[in-house]
Amino acid sequence: MSDQNLEATFTEFETLFSNTDSLVRVVLSGRRRNMQTPNERIDIRPVALKDGIAIQVSHSDGRQMTSKNYAPTEAPFAELIRSGYANVLLEHTEGSLALRITKKGEPLIHRENTKREQDLSHDRTKSRLLDAADPFLIAVGISDAKGHVKPSKMDKYKQVEEFLRLLMPTLTSAISAGHIHPPTDSKPLTIVDLGCGHAYLTFAAHQYLRGQGVAVKVVGIDVRTAARDRNNEIARQLGIQETIEFRAEEIADTTLKHADISIALHACDTATDDAIAWTINSDAKLALIAPCCHHDIQAQMNEIPEPWSLLTRNGIMKERLGDLLTDALRMQIMKLRGYRVEAIEFVGGEHTPRNLMIRAVKTGAAPDAAEERKYDEMLALWKVKPALASLLNR
Ligand SMILES: C[S@@+](CC[C@H](N)C(=O)[O-])C[C@H]1O[C@@H](n2cnc3c(N)ncnc32)[C@H](O)[C@@H]1O
Repeated sequence: MSDQNLEATFTEFETLFSNTDSLVRVVLSGRRRNMQTPNERIDIRPVALKDGIAIQVSHSDGRQMTSKNYAPTEAPFAELIRSGYANVLLEHTEGSLALRITKKGEPLIHRENTKREQDLSHDRTKSRLLDAADPFLIAVGISDAKGHVKPSKMDKYKQVEEFLRLLMPTLTSAISAGHIHPPTDSKPLTIVDLGCGHAYLTFAAHQYLRGQGVAVKVVGIDVRTAARDRNNEIARQLGIQETIEFRAEEIADTTLKHADISIALHACDTATDDAIAWTINSDAKLALIAPCCHHDIQAQMNEIPEPWSLLTRNGIMKERLGDLLTDALRMQIMKLRGYRVEAIEFVGGEHTPRNLMIRAVKTGAAPDAAEERKYDEMLALWKVKPALASLLNR
């Protein structure tokens, strides 16, 4: 480590950065004390495009990556490096330079000289979790007989895959935190898909987790008997009927009394509330729920507290506000019932406008009086009562 002056360090980075023949990548992350960064993390690397080398700058909001390419002399590296990040890592073909800026604003520098290759490919694709040719994807109708995703099913394929991409790390951390038991063959992980429909997600969760060596037992619930019969038949054809089954039942009246994990992808309107109520009542430890259309709260938003009519006077905005209010109240109810809850974007908006996921882990934390009060105040302000509250009698 050395403690040269911060500006001199930035200049050293800029010199290394300007040599696109040797630049491998740069990562900016963390936040300096009392500074705001434009994004959580920025990744920069040279890429080979038709017209020559460009600098690709990608930022993440924690979930999604957005990229922009610049001509090498126009890349805003000098601004970015000074924009509040606490850590800068620059790798080049002959070594790397790492900077950490301390709370006092001092640079701590680390150099090493491992040789690296440049990778200039511009569209490094995300690794696929589900092989389009997997027999289950053909059986459920996402892929055609040749193992290609059908164009009409591409959005569903993406939704399911991104849903799984979140399931695995969430599950792993819930297991390591002791919220969920480690699955074994004699005590597999139990998962219920509430409002499973054609069971794309249900089968995908089963196949993917089994492929990862996780012992699972999966149940799909849907009110439609035709869906149950079709899905059970597919399970039989795939020879997995011992560990996946389907029931034609209302979520609210299902005969299934327990699962470690509940999942629901676009269970219509208040079926999402049924799914959350089931989760709470049966003490499921983990829930990943992507709500569908919301009508319940919207229909109750009749007396608008001022000055909120600024938003609600426009139908489209009233609808979106109603969606947000519905999900925020659902989440608050879960929080007050001992879940740690967050809302995340689980798939790009181009694949579905319904791309918000409620992720909840049961920690058993006691309800906080201030949070109870906020919930009550919100209902009083908007003069609404969420369907979920009625289902739980709260
Ligand atoms: C929009 S589809 C989504 C299906 C599936 N999860 C997916 O993403 O492909 C909603 C499904 O929920 C089912 N459903 C709606 N209300 C239900 C309820 N109260 N109980 C059980 N299933 C319900 C419907 O039959 C339908 O199959």
